[in-house]
Amino acid sequence: MMEKLAIGSDHAGFRLKEKLKKYLESKGFSVIDVGTDSEESVDYPDFAFKVAKLVSEGKCKRGILVCGTGLGMSIAANKVKGIRATVCWNEEVARLSRLHNDSNVLCLGGRLLTFEEAKRIVEVWLETEFEGGRHLRRIKKISEFEESRS
Ligand code: RB5
Repeated sequence: MMEKLAIGSDHAGFRLKEKLKKYLESKGFSVIDVGTDSEESVDYPDFAFKVAKLVSEGKCKRGILVCGTGLGMSIAANKVKGIRATVCWNEEVARLSRLHNDSNVLCLGGRLLTFEEAKRIVEVWLETEFEGGRHLRRIKKISEFEESRS
C-alpha cells in the first residue's frame, strides 16, 4: 500500500502545492489535500492545523505544507502534539531534518523555491530514514516535555 501524505498551503503556496500534489500522485502516493484551493488570500494556520492533525492522529504518516516562506506553517504545525515540522530550503537540510530530527511535516517556501528545487527537497525528505540512536534520545526529551504540559 502506498504511503498516505497530507498536503496543504495558503494562497502564497498554492501554485507549488498543486504542482507537488500532481508530482506525488504520479509517483503513486495517496495525497490528501486539505486546501487551499485558489490564490485568494487565506490564513496559513487553518491549513497548518489540518495537516498537522492528520499526522498527529495517525491518519497520515507525514505531511507537507507550503506558505510564502514555510515559516508560518512550521510555527503553527509545531503547536500540534507529536509534530516535528521543519522548514527545508535545500536537499541537505531536508536530509538532516529526517536523519536527526525525524521530521514528520515538511514546510516549504512557495515564494522562495522553484518547483524543481522543491521537488528535489521533497524527494530527499521522503527517502531518508531517521537515524535513531542519540537523536532518538533528544527527540524523546521533546515529547516528554510536551507530555508534561498536556
Ligand atoms: C502570506 O503573505 C505570508 O505571510 C505567508 O504565506 C507565510 O509566508 C507566512 O509565514
